[in-house]
Amino acid sequence: MKLAVNVDHFATIREARQSNEPEPVLAALLAEQAGAEGIVCHIRGDRRHIKERDLKLFRETVKTKLNFEMAATEEMKKIALDIQPEIVSLVPERPEELTTEGGLDVISNEKELGPHIKELRNSGIKVSIFVDPNLKQIETCKKLGVDLIEINTGKYADLKPGEERLKALDEIKKAAEHGHSLGLEIHAGHGLDYKNVLPVAAIPEITEFSIGFSIVARSAIVGIESAVKEMVALIENY
Ligand code: PXP
Repeated sequence: MKLAVNVDHFATIREARQSNEPEPVLAALLAEQAGAEGIVCHIRGDRRHIKERDLKLFRETVKTKLNFEMAATEEMKKIALDIQPEIVSLVPERPEELTTEGGLDVISNEKELGPHIKELRNSGIKVSIFVDPNLKQIETCKKLGVDLIEINTGKYADLKPGEERLKALDEIKKAAEHGHSLGLEIHAGHGLDYKNVLPVAAIPEITEFSIGFSIVARSAIVGIESAVKEMVALIENY
């Protein structure tokens, strides 16, 4: 099981004072040294945290694998084609949202997504879709020709331990099995932390987690190296 670290919120701290620190690229390199096997960032339409200069610096320095989360817009496609991350993860984006609120509705947007995904893949970029644990949505992802999907663990992560959470976990499990049986690489993420990650890490079809907020928050207390190492230690045996 691999860990990809989302470093957006190092940029959020920087932007809180419109300053030049902390430097997200430095956080990315330290995360790699501590065992992260990928670096993820979300460039938003409003550039509230990550900006183009960060993407360029990541591209020049990240040694593992760079994954840009972005909306499926012309503006974002141009940025990806120009900078060439290893992976583009297509996510829905609502300007007022605090964080990504759900998976991309690929069924409703199938027509527009087809050529968008094709163009990215033709340039050598792997395409991922952030998708809710819904079997029909996952089948449409497969139809669209993506390389992998990232199953949205947000609903599970928002629930307290109990019946409802077990149901949400089971949905993730079934979604992972189904996606895997279709030949898709399965990643998962959103809202995962040091406490809730273990039951999801036990799902064998999931090969990688994308985790951001909880690691950045813990970094503020123990430093990024320890924060990443602790998360790697939790998931590495799966
Ligand atoms: N995956 C996707 C698609 C996301 O949009 C985010 C948040 O940027 C994450 C994973 C990471 O979520 P969190 O910050 O809650 O760990």
